[in-house]
Amino acid sequence: MEVINKYVTIKCHINGAPNESDFEIKTETFSLSVESGSNNVVVKSLYLSIDPYQINRMKSYSSSQNTISQAVGIVPGEAIDASGVGRVVASGHPDFERGDLVSGKISWGEYTIVKGANIDKLDLMGFPPSYHVGILALSGLTAYAGFFEVCKPKKGEKVFVSAASGSVGNLVGQYAKLFGCSVVCCAGSKQKVELLKEKLGFDDAFNYKEETDLESALKRYFPDGIDIYFDNVGAEMLEAAVANMNAFGRVAVCGVISEYTDTAKHAAPNMLDVVYKRITVRGFLCIDHMNLFADFISTTANHLRNGKIHVIEDISQGLESIPAAFTGLFRGDNVGKKIVQIIDE
Ligand SMILES: NC(=O)c1ccc[n+]([C@@H]2O[C@H](COP(=O)([O-])OP(=O)(O)OC[C@H]3O[C@@H](n4cnc5c(N)ncnc54)[C@H](OP(=O)(O)O)[C@@H]3O)[C@@H](O)[C@H]2O)c1
Repeated sequence: MEVINKYVTIKCHINGAPNESDFEIKTETFSLSVESGSNNVVVKSLYLSIDPYQINRMKSYSSSQNTISQAVGIVPGEAIDASGVGRVVASGHPDFERGDLVSGKISWGEYTIVKGANIDKLDLMGFPPSYHVGILALSGLTAYAGFFEVCKPKKGEKVFVSAASGSVGNLVGQYAKLFGCSVVCCAGSKQKVELLKEKLGFDDAFNYKEETDLESALKRYFPDGIDIYFDNVGAEMLEAAVANMNAFGRVAVCGVISEYTDTAKHAAPNMLDVVYKRITVRGFLCIDHMNLFADFISTTANHLRNGKIHVIEDISQGLESIPAAFTGLFRGDNVGKKIVQIIDE
């Protein structure tokens, strides 16, 4: 059987801040059956993950594109692969049958053909499917591995998190509080700051857009210095944090979103501080920490069942909302994990 498949693509490479007009919805005739002898699986998209890193794939060139297979450049006009949750509509692979729920790399489209070996059967574990795109998927693993493995926290340490109302940031703060650290964080609006203080119970939070001097602001919020900085934004925030780090502090460079859309921006932290305060500055990718996945899932699922972690999701409806959902990440529109629900089953 054939259907019309809709998918989102870029019209041309995007080298600055993305606009909705950079995207288009294409249609194609799509077969819902699997060729005999192939081990392919046809997946119907249910929930798709919207992630900032995709912008680096949309550029005509980014050094990131030469690093890992997940970061390769996107060709204008072609489908954009992305994490998501879907339902199997046809399978040539013995491990999958029609109706199975799956998670893994699908695409910003209604249907995707994937190799059976490249997708996982999804056990919902009693949680909504959207959790398996965010908190119980790579966003959650990024926060978990980044905080526990990269930052190597000790109880009582002082933690600073940027983009803290976002998908990764809010979880880092929550893991840090549960572990026994004090957490001060920042975000880009008054409402977000209220959420971080009132709902998530962080020790303090501020709106970085209202601060004219970030170094002094951090001095005010961390009179005794920062032990751990979980960096989601880069540039001047990273410089200000390094200036306020304590001796033997750790900086986990998770992402530098403020630099993704502005090629003129590069953090230039004071390297004398790095040397004399013996600060560890370490970039990391969640996919290097898949060995922690089982531990991350069981710990996080327990916290969820015990009501110890809040789930902050921001779900838009329909494939057509993908361009606005994605570009909104760079305007700070989202509160929590940005997801697009493609169909309501
Ligand atoms: N290393 C890894 O494996 C890995 C995995 C996932 C994500 N990441 C990175 O982690 C970071 C957060 O990702 P996420 O998925 O959790 O996204 P997110 O935080 O949910 O969404 C992006 C947020 O970034 C903030 N932002 C946007 N432009 C900014 C700017 N110019 N300056 C400061 N803040 C800005 C906005 O919040 P405000 O309102 O606060 O500005 C926005 O809501 C990104 O840098 C991403 O690339 C890394």
